[in-house]
Amino acid sequence: MLTMKWAIAPALLLLAACNTTGDNTSRLIKVPVPERPAGQEDMIGFAAEPLDSVRVGIIGLGMRGPGAVERMLNIEGVAIKALCDIEPERCDSAQAMILRAGAPAADIYTGNDSVWRQLVERPDLDLIYIATDWKKHALMGKAGMEAGKHVAIEVPAAMTLDEIWDLINTSEQTRRHCMMLENCVYDFFELNTLNMAQNGVFGDLVHVEGSYIHNLSEFWDAYYDNWRLDYNHENRGDVYATHGMGPACQLLDMHRGDRMVTLVAMDSDPFTGPGIVERQTGTRPDDFKNGDHTMTMIRTDKGKTIHIQHDVMNPRPYSRMYQLTGTKGFANKYGREGYALEPDSSTINAVPDLYNLSAHDWLSDEQQAALVERYRHPFIDEVGEIARKVGGHGGMDYIMDYRLIYCLRNGLPLDMDVYDLAEWCSLAPLTQLSIDNGSAPVAVPDFTRGGWNKLDGYRQAHL
Ligand SMILES: NC(=O)c1ccc[n+]([C@@H]2O[C@H](COP(=O)([O-])OP(=O)(O)OC[C@H]3O[C@@H](n4cnc5c(N)ncnc54)[C@H](O)[C@@H]3O)[C@@H](O)[C@H]2O)c1
Repeated sequence: MLTMKWAIAPALLLLAACNTTGDNTSRLIKVPVPERPAGQEDMIGFAAEPLDSVRVGIIGLGMRGPGAVERMLNIEGVAIKALCDIEPERCDSAQAMILRAGAPAADIYTGNDSVWRQLVERPDLDLIYIATDWKKHALMGKAGMEAGKHVAIEVPAAMTLDEIWDLINTSEQTRRHCMMLENCVYDFFELNTLNMAQNGVFGDLVHVEGSYIHNLSEFWDAYYDNWRLDYNHENRGDVYATHGMGPACQLLDMHRGDRMVTLVAMDSDPFTGPGIVERQTGTRPDDFKNGDHTMTMIRTDKGKTIHIQHDVMNPRPYSRMYQLTGTKGFANKYGREGYALEPDSSTINAVPDLYNLSAHDWLSDEQQAALVERYRHPFIDEVGEIARKVGGHGGMDYIMDYRLIYCLRNGLPLDMDVYDLAEWCSLAPLTQLSIDNGSAPVAVPDFTRGGWNKLDGYRQAHL
């Protein structure tokens, strides 16, 4: 069971709410940060013992899980030993994929919602890969680590602060990796742009944007037991922020020299959500909580800003926004995928005709191609081709799983640690808190409990 219970009592959390100075800090909401238990250390830069081959158990084989089976079958050094889903036919069709690939059959765990515990307890697994719905992510992850396994959990890996701290504490206690499967940090544009940013192409980064704008109308009826609409029905705030947060936070070196300090959130009314429930049930609810459009603004210790949005209800083209502003340049992925640079950007030798540029306008196709060629991320050279072939959102899902296995096999720190999980997932509870209190500023806890400045910048480990 997840233990720490923090029913949020806004009256208790509103620090100095009766301060009448009228400035914003007087309304700052702070949530408690549990003290790190004695003898427990942080997981910053943690690397586990290298593994010859990674023996995997996969839980959750709905719309998302089978893609992981397919990808793992195409990564060297992986053995899928166990599969689990409540629904037997979902296990059967994943098993058929394994057999078609000529790999040994996996053991199947199915038929009820707690049989996953038997999979987790098997002694012959190194990694538990969790692709169920949001409700049991943290519970399963915690059980996996307590059973001595590394865990990788689909997004969002945790929905409440209790769950987040439970995963952090369990990872720190057990010295097992706890990674969230945030695939969007491996999209090719994001990887190349991260590489450019790390090489100074945009100067100092100032502001980053990200979002999950995805009209889910064709999916609402397909989720197991209606979990996703129910969750939106019952919860306000940005409940699915990690696709925007991941790339933004890597660009800004979160807990590798900078940290989120304050956020403010605001939502629209739920205009479309209640109609989806009405279509399903015949009755329009008057208690649908999740606003159609949620916006969050975050300020960091180093004075940078992040803007995150969420809308899964309304008819808009898909967008994760992904936009960055630096002192020497700009990048943008959706609408127009491109870059704008000042002539004195550090790309001078990489881009033709740079002297004639100004960041008032986009790079030409030729200049952009030269820039991307110069700063193509090494992962794309390494596995871009097979990633595109095996697929998963154009290849980014494959690179995510490949990197997870690569780092485990080579005993390297993973690309995303438990504090990334915590920071990116914390938007769900913290934005709810802000919105429930009239968009009051909320202090973002330091989930590293003092370790956020130990590393100098975000880097992926490689031999
Ligand atoms: N990263 C991405 O791009 C991406 C894309 C889609 C979904 N997701 C995430 O993947 C997860 C799954 O989403 P989905 O679309 O596949 O949902 P889904 O409803 O299609 O599948 C969930 C599966 O989990 C199984 N399940 C639920 N509880 C279980 C239990 N106790 N034991 C065993 N099996 C159980 C269900 O039977 C179902 O097959 C979610 O966290 C979602 O947010 C991520």
